[in-house]
Amino acid sequence: MIIAIDGPAASGKGTIAKRVAAHYGLAYLDTGTLYRAVARDTLARSRDPADADEALNSAKALDPSTLGDPGLRKPGLAEAASLVAKHPEVREELLAYQRSFARAKSGAVLDGRDIGTVICPDADVKLFVTATPEERARRRYLELKQAGIEVSEAEVQCDIRRRDERDKHRAAAPLRRAPDAHLLDTTNFDIDAAFKAAIDLIDAALARAGHAG
Ligand code: CDP
Repeated sequence: MIIAIDGPAASGKGTIAKRVAAHYGLAYLDTGTLYRAVARDTLARSRDPADADEALNSAKALDPSTLGDPGLRKPGLAEAASLVAKHPEVREELLAYQRSFARAKSGAVLDGRDIGTVICPDADVKLFVTATPEERARRRYLELKQAGIEVSEAEVQCDIRRRDERDKHRAAAPLRRAPDAHLLDTTNFDIDAAFKAAIDLIDAALARAGHAG
């Protein structure tokens, strides 16, 4: 079974995806870490993430064993990740890894921007997780504050909006809801309520498709 979860920054998709994977006993891949790792490696070579050739070189040399690096969640990398993610050749290079992960024997949950549209268009269930930009900025701000990172909420909202615009309007695999994805708006939900809503949507979709159990 493959579950595809897409959505904009700080919508709650990562936390939901992780819990959904644990609930159904599926492997989990946060595909944002791939783009963040390509950005990290490009910057580490003092190269420009907006340069397609340089970003592609990093994608080709990417070592999947470094995807657990906690440094990948640093806020500065999000912007660079969205720059490398614009290059179609980088996306193409990262495709095989994601598809092969999705074929794990146990089944898999993948979260990102283009899982339901490009990476796993035949996923058994697709969710598109959203929340208002104000609520998403509030959540990300609190996350950063907890991690000891000093930024203003206004700054975070500005960064998120800029990144959303870039992700939605790029030519290659833009962020959009697949026509068959279930919409989950988490604006007024805490994480437990969002997780429950996700499970209800997934169980209903699986029952309709005749999946056992
Ligand atoms: O955690 P957050 O939602 O802020 O970001 P992320 O999921 O780690 O993704 C960082 C950036 O990678 C996004 O802004 C996208 O530009 C890019 N990305 C993508 O293009 N496609 C994916 N499947 C996942 C991430």
